[in-house]
This record gives sequence, C-alpha cells and structure tokens, in this order.
Amino acid sequence: MSLYDQLGGEPGVSAVADDFYHRISTDALLGAWFVDANGADIRLHLRAYLAVALGGPEEYSGRSLRRAHHGLRITGEAWNRMLVLLAESFRSAGVDDRLNAEVVANIGTLRAVVVEVR
Ligand code: HEM
Repeated sequence: MSLYDQLGGEPGVSAVADDFYHRISTDALLGAWFVDANGADIRLHLRAYLAVALGGPEEYSGRSLRRAHHGLRITGEAWNRMLVLLAESFRSAGVDDRLNAEVVANIGTLRAVVVEVR
C-alpha cells in the first residue's frame, strides 16, 4: 500500500500538505520566505506535488521545483529545518517512524534542486 493510501488518499494527503504549509509559513526561520508568497496557490501546488510523491494518481502540472524556487536563495539551514517540519507533519498524521524516515529521505533528494545558498 502506498503512503498515499495509508494517509487516506486525497483528503488525508491534502491535510498533511496544509499542516506542513502551516508549519513552514509560521516558522521563525522559514516564515520569512512566505511573507509575500501567495499561500493559497502554493498550498494547492504542494498538495498535488506531495500526492504524486507519495504514490497517488494525481498529476502535478505546476512549475518544476527548480523553477519555482529559483532565485529564492534558500539556504541549507532552511532546508534542514524544512525536513524536520515535514517529519513532524507526517508524525502528527500517524505515520510510523520507519516510513516517515523513508519519505523524508526521499524528499531530501530534492535538496540540490531547491537550495541555492550553502
Ligand atoms: C526550505 C525549503 C523551502 C522553502 C523555503 C520554499 C519556499 C517556497 C516559496 C517562497 C514558494 C513560492 C514561490 C513563488 O510563488 O514564486 C514555493 C513554491 C512551491 N514550493 Fe517550496 N520551498 C521549500 C521546499 C519545498 C519542497 C521540499 C517542496 C516539495 C515537496 C516544495 C514545493 C513547492 C511547490 C509545489 C511550490 C509551488 C510552485 C508553483 O507555484 O508553481 N517546496 N516554495
């Protein structure tokens, strides 16, 4: 069973995506990136992106992650913090630690695409 199914399909994954967006946009370190961002748009794209990444049938037709984050000067420190918050979101949705580590490692492979500042 994919993690998508384990989370309860589309509604479950959307809830995790929204919880994650809430955590990063209100975080002391990460919040600065979202002050001028269009939260509604990002949330929709994030829901679709995570759904696909977790094995769902949706399609992600947004900008590539490289393009979406180009020029934002996202730092390695911000990236590490983001991964902590992502794991917290999965944990609070009831995902067990082993699976959680797997998913976070998977998303972690996108680091080179998003991080521009060491
Ligand atoms: C520290 C890490 C990250 C920061 C600070 C960050 C920040 C941002 C910001 C500010 C935007 C809005 C850009 C704009 O409207 O021009 C954005 C868009 C987006 N981000 Fe991130 N992001 C991070 C990591 C991630 C990761 C790991 C994912 C995927 C799992 C992701 C998925 C998206 C998506 C799907 C969009 C929307 C793209 C679009 O609107 O076309 N982001 N991000």
